[in-house]
Amino acid sequence: MKFDANRPDLTIGVIGTGAMGRGIVQVAAAGGMNVLMTDSRPGAAQEARDFVEKMLTRAAEKGGMSREDVVSAMLRIGVVSSPAEMKPCHVVIEAIVENLEAKQQLFAELENVVSPDCILATNTSSLSVTTIGAKLKTPQRFAGLHFFNPVPLMKLVEVIDGLRTENWVSEALMVIGRRLTREPVRLTDAPGFLVNQVGRGFTLEAAHLAYEGVSGFADVDRVMRDVGGFRMGPFELMELTGLDVTHPASELIYNQFFQEPRYRPNLIMRARYEAGVLGRKSGKGFYDYDAEMKAIAPPEPAPPAAYPGHVWVSPAEHHGHAVLTELLKKMGASIETGPKPGANALILVTPIGDDATSCAVEQELDPKRTVAVDTLFPMAKRRTIMGTPVTDHVYRNAAHGLLASDGVPVTVCRDSPGFIAQRIVAMIVNIGCSIAQSRTAQPSDIDKAVTLGLNYPNGPFKFGDVLGAERIHRVLSSMYRIYGDPRYRPNIWLTRRARLGVSLLTQEP
Ligand code: NAI
Repeated sequence: MKFDANRPDLTIGVIGTGAMGRGIVQVAAAGGMNVLMTDSRPGAAQEARDFVEKMLTRAAEKGGMSREDVVSAMLRIGVVSSPAEMKPCHVVIEAIVENLEAKQQLFAELENVVSPDCILATNTSSLSVTTIGAKLKTPQRFAGLHFFNPVPLMKLVEVIDGLRTENWVSEALMVIGRRLTREPVRLTDAPGFLVNQVGRGFTLEAAHLAYEGVSGFADVDRVMRDVGGFRMGPFELMELTGLDVTHPASELIYNQFFQEPRYRPNLIMRARYEAGVLGRKSGKGFYDYDAEMKAIAPPEPAPPAAYPGHVWVSPAEHHGHAVLTELLKKMGASIETGPKPGANALILVTPIGDDATSCAVEQELDPKRTVAVDTLFPMAKRRTIMGTPVTDHVYRNAAHGLLASDGVPVTVCRDSPGFIAQRIVAMIVNIGCSIAQSRTAQPSDIDKAVTLGLNYPNGPFKFGDVLGAERIHRVLSSMYRIYGDPRYRPNIWLTRRARLGVSLLTQEP
């Protein structure tokens, strides 16, 4: 099929002009394309057109575009009364209600209206592109074009090949995505597509570890911001999106993957979803909210005024031992250098993936004096420590006081394989690798999509390469061994590259 995605008179149809549809209209018109828009609710398309005009005018006031450009963009937008008037379109993008039957019915109707080489695209966020297209007479020209909310601000667009989508269609949508001033990333149809799949690693692992009592919500958020470098913690993010969106999406992805344990939802999310404790929009979620709808985080306790007499650092983890010893020296701690800890010394271990209990038992250390310190991530902004279930509070306080003695906050969590950040980031990397392994998308595209679509500091592959594939593999293997839960089994893409000591971006020919 010959389709000229660069033609200057390209006309895009947008059906459904709610939050997403109007954003798509805005970027299409601003990008120089003609737009026809419609909505089943009378007056809705005109309202959306007025909204787009307001947005473009505001952009002009801020100097983002000229007033002449606003006028010509608005002249390119036409409101039509029904999909039956989409005949002139070269591409039609559907952004109606998220309902399979409604979408299938709309495309069946459209198929009889538009020309045979018109591309049909869905902006569905959670339904299968292949399934929506399955009832079409010509599923070959049907694909997913998944934008992010708010469209004008979110640069990413996922171009999704359904099982029967022909190459020319996705290639054309990649070009059109760029003409819409987005960054298109191509992938094959999969539950959660790309970004929403990776996002499960962040939110669900946080929910699992909170459910397990490792740490409170605010502490997990603090660690992921200060240690992991994320702009927002997982609970803050779920609150902002709302549990009415996050939880059903999680259940859907889990079930569409035939109950793949990696995507297993968690009860603390479902309970809130069912109780209407949804987050910011309901005034209560994992956090309480003040009158200005700002989340009220419980204050962090002041570090104890405690300090160890002597401290011994386990040499079992070479890197962790080196990093921690250097930090303790700067703090002026009295460090023992013998092969075994002295009788009363505070014992510090630096596990990658193990919990404090495993370290104490396997290294034959006194569990009452053992405290684990997370050294996988930079320790400049926050430190995470945990004891065994029998660590004496005197020793735990001494470790806390010592590690906070230069003014850097310390989070104390309960014993956990992989503390907080190690396990959450390892799950993100593992899911990224499973997407690459299934050939859903290219590794570099996965990283690009995740940084643009989720605002993470790194995509899964960059995280893996910066922290070390072998270490990420170790975190997952330890979790898998300690919990016996296939949720944590390392993906084979990750395992092979970790064993070979090569970058996670390494592709097989
Ligand atoms: P919305 O509720 O804001 O807008 C939907 C619009 O479609 C409404 O104006 C409604 O009147 C209209 N509509 C419903 N049925 C229709 C039909 N049969 N024919 C024509 N118009 C119809 O919803 P929103 O948030 O804009 O979502 C639209 C689609 O985009 C959904 O498939 C959603 O899953 C997807 N999406 C939503 C994102 C979000 O963050 N809101 C992100 C990415 C995708």
